[in-house]
Amino acid sequence: MLKTVVCVSGGGSNLQAILDAVESGGITNAQVSAVICNNPGAKALERAARHNVPAIVMSPKNYPDRAEFHRAFTEKMCQLDPDLIVLAGFLVKIPEEMVKRFPNRIINVHPSLIPSFCGVGYYGLKVHEKALERGVRVTGATVHFVNEGMDEGPIIAQKPVEVLEDDTPQSLQRRVMEQAEWILLPQAIDDIANGRIRVEEGRVRRSPV
Ligand code: GAR
Repeated sequence: MLKTVVCVSGGGSNLQAILDAVESGGITNAQVSAVICNNPGAKALERAARHNVPAIVMSPKNYPDRAEFHRAFTEKMCQLDPDLIVLAGFLVKIPEEMVKRFPNRIINVHPSLIPSFCGVGYYGLKVHEKALERGVRVTGATVHFVNEGMDEGPIIAQKPVEVLEDDTPQSLQRRVMEQAEWILLPQAIDDIANGRIRVEEGRVRRSPV
C-alpha cells in the first residue's frame, strides 16, 4: 500500500480527484495518509476533513526565514515517512533537501504542456493568462517527477486541451482541470502504486502491461 502525502495550497480540486479515485477504485494500492497545506484558509483543508484525512498547516510565513521553513517542512515530511509525495496545486517551491531525501518519489501536476508556460512565476491562473496572451490554440496539463529545478523533472504524462475563441483564464483553467489534471494525476498515482512506471536515466519508462 503506497503511503501518500498530498501537498496543497488552495481550492484542492486535484486533492478531491485523488480522494475520489481512491474511494472509487480508480487508484488501487494507495492511501492518502496526510495532507500538508501552506494556507490556513484553503478550501482543500475542508476536503481533507470531509474524508477524515489528517491535515497539517505549515506556512513559510510562520518561520523566521526560508531556511528554517525548509528544515521544519523536510523534518515533518520525514516523520510522515511517505512512499510518495504529491504536489496537487502546491504553490511553494520544494526544498532541495527534501528532493534529495525523496528521490523520484515526489510528483507535481502543472497546468500546461511543459516546457511551455512553466518555471518561475508560472503557477495557477497565471499559467492560463500567459497562454491566452500568447494566443496558443492548444494547451494542457503535465504530471512530472520533481527534481531540484522548477517544473524540470522527468515527465510522466501529458494531455492536450483545446483553447476556445472566447476563453477567459478562468474558463480555460476549468477545462484544463476537467479534461486533463483530474484524470492524469490520479492515473499517475495508480501507475506508481502498481509499479507500472520507473525512472531510468532521467526519463520515465513504462512497464509493458
Ligand atoms: C491547478 O491547476 C494546478 O495544476 C496548479 O494550481 C491549480 C490548483 O488547483 N498548480 C500549479 O500551477 C503548480 N505550478 P486545485 O487547488 O483546485 O487543485
